[in-house]
Amino acid sequence: MKRPKTIGILTGGGDCPGINAVIRAVAKKAMLEQGLGVIGIEDGYDGLIRRKCRRLALSDVSGILTLGGTILGASKISNPYQYAVRKGTSVVFRDVSRRAIASVRDFGLDALVCIGGDGTLGIAYRLLQDGVNVVGVPKTIDNDLRGTDITFGFDSAVSIATEAVDRLHTTAQAHHRIMVLEVMGHRAGWIALHAGVAGGGDIILIPEIPYAIEAIVRKVRERDRCGKRFSIVVVSEGAVPRGGDVVIRKIVKNASDSVRLGGIGFVLADQLERLTGHESRAVVLGHLQRGGSPTPFDRVLATQLGVQAVDLVMNGRFGRMAAIQDGKITDAPLEIAAAGPRLIPLDLPLLGAARSVGTSFGDET
Ligand code: F6P
Repeated sequence: MKRPKTIGILTGGGDCPGINAVIRAVAKKAMLEQGLGVIGIEDGYDGLIRRKCRRLALSDVSGILTLGGTILGASKISNPYQYAVRKGTSVVFRDVSRRAIASVRDFGLDALVCIGGDGTLGIAYRLLQDGVNVVGVPKTIDNDLRGTDITFGFDSAVSIATEAVDRLHTTAQAHHRIMVLEVMGHRAGWIALHAGVAGGGDIILIPEIPYAIEAIVRKVRERDRCGKRFSIVVVSEGAVPRGGDVVIRKIVKNASDSVRLGGIGFVLADQLERLTGHESRAVVLGHLQRGGSPTPFDRVLATQLGVQAVDLVMNGRFGRMAAIQDGKITDAPLEIAAAGPRLIPLDLPLLGAARSVGTSFGDET
C-alpha cells in the first residue's frame, strides 16, 4: 500500500457534543505524528458534491476540544446516492455519487475519515464499495449504533437530560403535578433510560417496551396513596403505546431519511391529566441535548476514537470504524453501523435494576 499523504475529514448527519474533539484528534495526530495534510470537507457529503473544502492548519484545530457543534459544518440531507433536487414544486432524488467520488480524487485525498451516525456511515460504506478509502468514527447522541458499545455525544446528552429531570422534580413536587419530559433518541430509548434512572424518574417510556396508559395511571395513583403527590415521566420521542404508533413531528421532504419524531410528551401529558386528575405539563428537551460543550467522558472518548481512526488509515484498514467494546478502543466493520439501529436489549441489567427500585416502564399488568 502507498503511504497516505493527504486525508479528508467530514462530519455528516446531526451534530453532537464531541465532534470537534474528534476533528482535533484526527488532525493533530495526522499532522504532528504522521506528517499528513488534512483537508476539511464542509457540510458533510454536501462538500464532496458541491466541492466545498479547506486545508486545515494546526491553528484551525487548536482550542476546539471543548467546543460544541462542528467547525466543518454538517448536513442531514446531503446523500450522494439520493441527492434531493428541486423540480418545479416537487423534490426528486438523483444519484450524484460519481461527482462526490471525483471530488475525493480532485482534492487529492488518499483516505476519507467520515464522522457520523448510521446514515453517514452507511453512505461511507457505499463509497468504500465504489473504491474510496474510507474509515468511520461513530457519532450520535442516540447511542444506537451497532459495532460500538458507546457513541460519543451520548454521555453529554444524558447529562443535559438528567439535569432537566432534576429541575422538573422540584417544580413537580411544589405543584403536585405530573411533569413529562420528552427526550431524543430516535427509535431507541438509551437517552430516556439513562437520564430516567440517573434522575430518579418514576415512569420511563422507551420504544423497546410499548406502554399501556392504564399502567402509568396505576403507578401515579400508587404514588398518590404513598403521599407522593407528583410524578415524573421521562419519555423517549420514539416511544409507542401498545398496538399504536410513534408521534411524528415533521416530514422533511428533501431528506432521504425524512421522518422527524416528536410530540408524544404533549399527548401523554393531556391523557394523564384527564385520567388521573393531576395537573400535567410536558417539556420537550429537543436540540438542547445536541448543543454545547461535551462532557469530560465524551472528550476523552472522542479523542481516543479520532486517534484510532488515523491508525486505521495508516494501516490501510479501510472499511473499518473506530469503536469501543468492553472498555477497549478497537475497530469494527463499517457495514455493521449501517445495519439498522442498536436497540436496548430487553435483558439489559439496567432495566432490571430500574424495576427493582420501583421504576415503571408502563408495561406492568
Ligand atoms: O439522531 C440524532 C437526532 O437528534 C435524533 O435524536 C432526533 O430524532 C433527530 O436527530 C432530530 O433531527 P433534526 O436535527 O433533523 O431535527
